[in-house]
Amino acid sequence: MKRTYPLYLAGRPVQTKARLAVTDKYSGDTVCQVSMADAKLVDRAIAAAVAAKPAMAALPSYQRAEILLQCVSAFERRHEELAQALCIEAGKPIKDARVEVDRLIDTFRIAAGEATRINGGQMDMQVSPRAMGLTAFARRVPLGVLSFITPFNFPLNLVAHKVAPAIAAGCPFVLKPSDKTPVGALIIAEVLAATDLPKGAFSVLPCPVDEAQALVEDERIEMLSFTGGQIGWSLKAKAGRKAVTLELGGNAACIVDADPGIDTDSLVERLAFGGYYQSGQSCISVQRLLVHESIYPEVRRRLRAKVKSLKMGNPKFTTVTIGPMIDEQAAERVESWIRAARKAGAGLLAGGDRNGRMLPAHLLENVPHDQLAWREEVFGPLVCIESFSDFTQALQTVNASDYGLQAGVFTARRDHAMQAWNALDVGGVVIGDVPSIRVDHMPYGGVKGSGCGLEGVPYAIREMTRPRLLLMRD
Ligand code: SIN
Repeated sequence: MKRTYPLYLAGRPVQTKARLAVTDKYSGDTVCQVSMADAKLVDRAIAAAVAAKPAMAALPSYQRAEILLQCVSAFERRHEELAQALCIEAGKPIKDARVEVDRLIDTFRIAAGEATRINGGQMDMQVSPRAMGLTAFARRVPLGVLSFITPFNFPLNLVAHKVAPAIAAGCPFVLKPSDKTPVGALIIAEVLAATDLPKGAFSVLPCPVDEAQALVEDERIEMLSFTGGQIGWSLKAKAGRKAVTLELGGNAACIVDADPGIDTDSLVERLAFGGYYQSGQSCISVQRLLVHESIYPEVRRRLRAKVKSLKMGNPKFTTVTIGPMIDEQAAERVESWIRAARKAGAGLLAGGDRNGRMLPAHLLENVPHDQLAWREEVFGPLVCIESFSDFTQALQTVNASDYGLQAGVFTARRDHAMQAWNALDVGGVVIGDVPSIRVDHMPYGGVKGSGCGLEGVPYAIREMTRPRLLLMRD
């Protein structure tokens, strides 16, 4: 008999008749089941969150911080269990899974610190003769009930990036995890259930998309935070009056300047990491790689050899970089984009045949820019490489995209670093490394098709609170 994880309704574990099978993404075997919610339970969860609003708002910030630190201790104790769960349900190579658990812990710890720094302050009223005789203060208050929809690729840390700031901000919430990877969120829920959070303050409900419409449309919810694909924009259109944060990924670029300011061995290591960690299933994995023509032959040769050497196989082994993609459909899609790019003239520098969900690391050269492999989010183990002669032109190539989340630039030139920071139309510019880096207190959010609103713990807390003014005539 396989284990069945309960869902969490209003902070309590509940087993339902409807079950979702969770598979090991490498072997394909069913490893456990989770209880699934329907629209009625979603409605009950929202009602419980509404009822918990005053208690959450009244929770002193030191207690919010203590609750978050209770979670930190539990995650530290369960570190390896969490990493193994990710490795199985997401097919995430164990070395990446362990880093994700570290980041889960970071995210909750950062939120604990921020919980006691959600300050308001007194305003300068000497801005106009009209305002003389007035004293004003503004402090930030919780928005109210929040709904969260999270993706498969970081089943712990992208849940953490919504849950931890919500607790710090004093907002109750209802979360729907990805149906491909619900276990991480349910373990977090189990940990939350053992804390002193007020009754009803949170629900974690795996459920079919059709049953979760209220998380988008219900007017009792003040804010929707969604991480996933372009479907996010249609959710925003249905969200009515609520605030909406969307984290929707992109086709991240990396520029390698004539003098990249790094030795070639380290450069190639970082490029291979950025392009292929967790099989490229990250919103900021390197997809478009532009290398200055003066060093292109050398970088091309070394990167090609490196990509060919990346070990594909069972993600449980620490030597494995390329594990399974999340499902066969995703692997087929990436394969078809590669095939189309090659037909349109791209050269294959590294690659191999797909076997079910296992798609080897691919490196394509000179992909025409109208190809899906270049212009849309690949979310798979593929990097498209080409050369450039002029740095300004390379920046323009990066900007010629419907997306803009993060970009990386390897350059030894400070003027080029500043030029990139000024010119790149993205949420974040990384100098001296790939775009595939995130520390969990930094602002994280894209422009154009990559989304709206910000994550990164202090920034998410800001989105989840609003200023309330106190104005007094002296
Ligand atoms: C994402 O895929 O957007 C998350 C990237 C990260 O948190 O490292």
